[in-house]
Amino acid sequence: MGKDGALAVERGLAGASWYISPVPKEQIRELLERRNWPAVRDTVAWFALIGASGYAAYWLWQASSLWAIAAFMIYGVLYASSSDSRWHEASHGTAFRTDWLNDALYEIASFMVLRESTVWRWSHQRHHSDTYIVGRDPEIAIPRPPNILSIILGVFKLHTIVLYFKHVLMHCVGVLTPDEKSFIPPHEQPKVIIKAWIYLLVYAGVVGLALRQQSILPLLYVGLPTVYGSWLAEYYGLPQHAALAEDVLDHRLNTRTIYMNSVLRYLYWNMNYHLEHHMYPLVPYHQLPRLHELVKADCPAPYSGLLEAWREIIPVLRRQLRDTSHFARRVPPAAPPAPAASVPIFRALGPMIDGWIEVGASSLLGAEDVIRVDHERTTYAIYRTADGALYATAGRCTHGGVHLAGGFVKGRLIECPKHNGRFDITNGSPQRAPACVALATYAVRESEGRIFLGCKRLQS
Ligand code: FES
Repeated sequence: MGKDGALAVERGLAGASWYISPVPKEQIRELLERRNWPAVRDTVAWFALIGASGYAAYWLWQASSLWAIAAFMIYGVLYASSSDSRWHEASHGTAFRTDWLNDALYEIASFMVLRESTVWRWSHQRHHSDTYIVGRDPEIAIPRPPNILSIILGVFKLHTIVLYFKHVLMHCVGVLTPDEKSFIPPHEQPKVIIKAWIYLLVYAGVVGLALRQQSILPLLYVGLPTVYGSWLAEYYGLPQHAALAEDVLDHRLNTRTIYMNSVLRYLYWNMNYHLEHHMYPLVPYHQLPRLHELVKADCPAPYSGLLEAWREIIPVLRRQLRDTSHFARRVPPAAPPAPAASVPIFRALGPMIDGWIEVGASSLLGAEDVIRVDHERTTYAIYRTADGALYATAGRCTHGGVHLAGGFVKGRLIECPKHNGRFDITNGSPQRAPACVALATYAVRESEGRIFLGCKRLQS
């Protein structure tokens, strides 16, 4: 991503290791457990609210009542603002336990929030790898110096709409920007073109209907909600990172957690616990309040509300107009624990014999568990499945190099803690994007209550 991106790479800020507040392994495993029920309940209620407000708006519009404006405002916020957090959670694959439900919600919410689903799936992963690293993070909402006019117009998303349709048209004719080519793998790029045609045809249909009926009504339901209903997403979404530090490898310095009331937390799917989400993106939205309790002692004090956050942001943005080095400093508690404390490292207990090392007692690994083992210059991950079988793979994710021992074992899969990529632990094969390259696999055996690892890579 240009000169800034090259500089970030040179400074070791690209795809780097980030500080993570330690959480005991047993507790994090509990939080990682996926369930369908909370998201099914919340999603059904969400669609019901959209349907009810949309129906009320139609009925009041037909009756020429001014109350139609209020009904459309509710519909617009539900459609355009709260779809943002549904889009976000589903993109991580953490909303539901069942994958196709995550994918379905992701596609629907992407359409509602005017984001091309394939493009944004990849750009959001870069945001998580390189949060507010200038030149790397494609989702820096307010770059320095801030453009105040663009922030104000952002309430109506006019710029977003223009860019969205410009990109959709470009993608329809097969043109991707250099940035898009840098973060979307080649095998995913044809999907961008196909989906661009789908978006274009849907919008053409809505515009055609409006012309046929000589009415703005169809556009008030699809398309225009982005203009009149996005304000809430801007109000509670911009403070996630605005005016905080850039180019730091610690989310406590560039991300806010803000207390909000239960209505806002429902609309926002708990993304007010944004710092916690960035540290542990595998944790589903409905567990973020519990995660917050576990890490808050290691983090700067949360904001008491959105007003407090905006009171900090606005003066900083004004000053950044003349001094781009200025930012709001977050102060974590003194003397934080070591970053790797929550993922212990195991090493060989003796010399390698015939290519095998002894790792430790069988009790190191519970059911559906993973540990990290470092030997010489290689990092391994050893897993135990629910039926007690052991498997071993390379210890670092082939996508971003993160240690898989911080991830989540379910069935035959390990889910990477950084971007939720998945691998089959029995053969190392990638099972969910952004993981595309297989993990090396290794032999592992258990004998007399001890675990032994074969350090020679198995042939795939
Ligand atoms: S580091 Fe990106 S999926 Fe593992």
